Amino acid sequence: MSKKDIASLVDDRPEDGVFRLHRSVFSDPEIFEMEMKYIFERNWVFLGLDSQVPHPHDYMTTTVGRHPVVVMRDGEGNLNAFINSCPHKGARLCHLAQGNRKIHVCQYHSWSFDSAGRIRGLKFKDDGQYSPAFDNDSHDLAALPRFEVYRGFMFGALSADVLPLSEYLGEARTFIDIAVDTSPQGLELVPGVVGFTFEGNWKLQLENCSDQYHFTSTHPSYLKVLDRRAEKGWEGTVRANVRGRGGRKAMQFPADGLEHIAGGSTSFEHGHNLNWNRRTVNDSHPLFERAEELKERFGEARRDWMFNTRNLTLFPNVQVAENASSQLRIIRPISVDRTEMLTYCIAPVGESAAARAQRIRQYEDFFNPSGLATPDDTINYEDCQDGHLNPVSPWLQGHARGMMLAGPDGDPFIDRLGVKALSSVIGGVELGDETIFHTYYRSWRALLQAGQRADEAAARSQPAPASARLVETVR
Ligand code: FES
Ligand SMILES: [Fe+2]
Repeated sequence: MSKKDIASLVDDRPEDGVFRLHRSVFSDPEIFEMEMKYIFERNWVFLGLDSQVPHPHDYMTTTVGRHPVVVMRDGEGNLNAFINSCPHKGARLCHLAQGNRKIHVCQYHSWSFDSAGRIRGLKFKDDGQYSPAFDNDSHDLAALPRFEVYRGFMFGALSADVLPLSEYLGEARTFIDIAVDTSPQGLELVPGVVGFTFEGNWKLQLENCSDQYHFTSTHPSYLKVLDRRAEKGWEGTVRANVRGRGGRKAMQFPADGLEHIAGGSTSFEHGHNLNWNRRTVNDSHPLFERAEELKERFGEARRDWMFNTRNLTLFPNVQVAENASSQLRIIRPISVDRTEMLTYCIAPVGESAAARAQRIRQYEDFFNPSGLATPDDTINYEDCQDGHLNPVSPWLQGHARGMMLAGPDGDPFIDRLGVKALSSVIGGVELGDETIFHTYYRSWRALLQAGQRADEAAARSQPAPASARLVETVR
């Protein structure tokens, strides 16, 4: 049980205009252990999209915190999530990322399970001389205590003591809806996953997706390429859905008194947030062919939001980045200074071949390992990680931009959706709000402290271990 004073690591004094993080938040192995135990293993975690397991007996593997998990669709089409560990001696049952099997046979001693997780065969059972107590035990796979799906986004929790998923996602659900409603059949992953690791803390990725401030500094090569292509009228190349340096400032918005607003950021309860940029309805977006239809179905305000660039983070481990193209990112912390990322191009089911090709070309430009974004971002995470070990200046200054603007009201763009934000900031292209990170660390702090309190209460209700009692007696 950790005694670490979590509150002392987040200098959160809005009344004084201060929000600072201690560097050890990113570099202390003890904090990492607490994050795994109290955030990833006692809270909702994103598992995948249900469209990854569309058919009876499909399965996919993932992790929740440090534990292997398998999601299976049974013969009746029901989805279930199980610990991917054989009840016999604990061997991993499913080894592949995904597949289709009616029966899963453990490679160690051949116990077998159906796609609903029920034991179907226990090798040489009759000769095993098992006791009645063993026979009375369940030998099925262990289901995750909580498993729910919202609009195709599957979440699981290793603890039953979590909020209903709809409450956990709260107002952030509107932005899942906006992404999913781009097709009547929802979203799918374009085949081909890119997985990579970086030598840095998982929260560096969490922050970077919400970090507008870095874009012009970290990705100048991308912006220069876009400007050059635009000068040539995009001849022989795909039109980009983001703008180069010139285009960003020159973008024309309706003269509605808000034409100076280029975008903003919005925070929700439980650590979720969104940062976004305004876009007009234009043909560089793969949705353009369906712009009128989407307006009819969802109204102008929602349709316009579908064209805005949007980076949505659902705390703690999934991000839907819809900017230069559309990407699903799953964050898997491995250690305090090592993180695995799984990234996919995500797309509306049933879009035309031309729109899909445009989306994939835009994806290759920016997100792919061969593209102009991910490697530049990743090297920054590794540089930051090295700097987080520095004992001389322990407090970071990266969470302060926008503090004079942030508040729960005053975002007419969010209001148009009927969404209630915890805090919003809107402004010009150079705002680069950093208050968007605050909701991460307020939730982070709350979960770690709740975990500490729960463990302390559990320890108080347990009898002291025999060795401790012996010491007491001798004294
Ligand atoms: S560990 Fe699976 S059958 Fe023995
Ligand atoms: Fe970036």
